Amino acid sequence: MRPSRGRPEAPPGAPRTDAGEAAGARGAAHVTARDAPRCVVTEAGGARAGVGSVRPMERPARKCVQVSGVDAIRVRGRKPLNGRIKVGGAKNAALPILCATLLSDGASRLRNVPGLRDIDTTAALLRFLGRDVMVDIPEVRLAEASGPARPEAPYELVRQMRASVLVLGPLVARYGKAKVSLPGGCAIGARPVDQHLKGLEALGATIHVEHGYIVAESQRLRGAEIVFDMQTVTGTENLMMAAALAKGRTTLVNCAREPEVEELGRVLNKMGAKVEGAGTSIIRIEGRDALDPFDHAIIADRIEAGTFLAAVGATGGTVLLEDVPTEDLEPVIVKLRQAGVEIERSGTGTVVARHGVLRAVDATTAPHPGFPTDMQAQLMALLTMAQGTSVLTETIFENRFMHVPELARMGADVEIRNNSAIVRGVTSLEGASVMATDLRASASLVIAGLVADGETVVRRVYHLDRGYERIEKKLAAVGADIERISLAEDG
Ligand code: EPZ
Repeated sequence: MRPSRGRPEAPPGAPRTDAGEAAGARGAAHVTARDAPRCVVTEAGGARAGVGSVRPMERPARKCVQVSGVDAIRVRGRKPLNGRIKVGGAKNAALPILCATLLSDGASRLRNVPGLRDIDTTAALLRFLGRDVMVDIPEVRLAEASGPARPEAPYELVRQMRASVLVLGPLVARYGKAKVSLPGGCAIGARPVDQHLKGLEALGATIHVEHGYIVAESQRLRGAEIVFDMQTVTGTENLMMAAALAKGRTTLVNCAREPEVEELGRVLNKMGAKVEGAGTSIIRIEGRDALDPFDHAIIADRIEAGTFLAAVGATGGTVLLEDVPTEDLEPVIVKLRQAGVEIERSGTGTVVARHGVLRAVDATTAPHPGFPTDMQAQLMALLTMAQGTSVLTETIFENRFMHVPELARMGADVEIRNNSAIVRGVTSLEGASVMATDLRASASLVIAGLVADGETVVRRVYHLDRGYERIEKKLAAVGADIERISLAEDG
């Protein structure tokens, strides 16, 4: 099967989910970016039905305020952080679990869901597929399916979020057919989906690609033994969901062991599938003829938590983080402690502090339980101010140093050699205008802005909003001088 080709991240002014929503109900294909109202989500009241008695969907409780220009984040640095921050639900657990709702026609509910663009995009995709979805953060509720789904995920939605490929397994398993836009590459790498397709073929699906779409068909998937060529998080998740409705037993070998994979296993078991070993390298799944809806509260986001640990480690101060999944964050906590950050569990959460100097450390990204690639950029931002030279090696994605030239604009001394970054600590950074290129790169630029002299303006924060719920508000609450501003449309 020919892997997909790379494509750049969404351009500035890319359709915001609300726009997608408007067109979501059967017709997303003609969403136009530029004239879509740029929506700033403001809290709006409004009664909500309990999951048991979901009525056909009212319009989600969001108020769209028309504003011109694009968002940016302005930070004035050199302020220690003190106070408490609550960590939200895990984006990378919520996305596959939202897709798993397609495996059952019943009414499901997810709780502790973060208010993120990617959640809105997934909700728009599920609506396009024919499901009634109520996004009422921190809850997402799906009503009983009211009709046959249209098993097609259009390019317009998939290009906004690669993880949309996670509807492929559930759709072909549940409806015997799926047409899903090939998710092109992204800023951090080519990111092919060959393992997803190879696995579905092993489960008996016939697959071909036409006009940029994966078309998968099968009368009924049947259990099989599948060995992944590499550990792939969404690949493992897609096949777990497909196998949950396949005939017989499936064994997945060399699986991704991320906590989010384990969380999906918990939900599939709640739906009546028999999943053993999620979170280990071998997962066994006993398929069922039908699955039940579920009600589930999502685990906390270890990467959001890790980002705040690095932010406080960089600025100094003392912050209590609530709901940090420390056991899932061990590799990050070990590295930050080596760099001089104090991290202690306390009764009500995790206390992170830094009072001494930062020391250089080396780190190499690896699949869980190794050091997560999604924390590489944030660790780098911290190490730009450490005493000594650190070496950060990226082994998961071939192009995940896009934040380096932007950090260099702030005076960081980072040299790229193949897939390693040599970070020579400097005594200070300078505020500057910088450009976010992907989700975690944008977080590293915010951290650098928190420690830099003067003012930093981080542009293209739609990347940030994909994975962090109002990060500037959470940081301002612990003393950061940070705000969201609107800039004239950037070139
Ligand atoms: C998941 O992406 C996460 N996304 C990513 O988080 C995370 O960086 C990544 O796992 C690694 O931890 C979600 O969970 C939604 P992979 P995924 O398949 O599943 C290669 C964030 O910042 N590969 O585990 O797409 C691939 O190119 C995001 O929140 C193939 O070659 O990543 C990569 O080099 C960014 N063929 C490696 O495997 C395949 O079929 C691991 O990718 C699949 C993957």
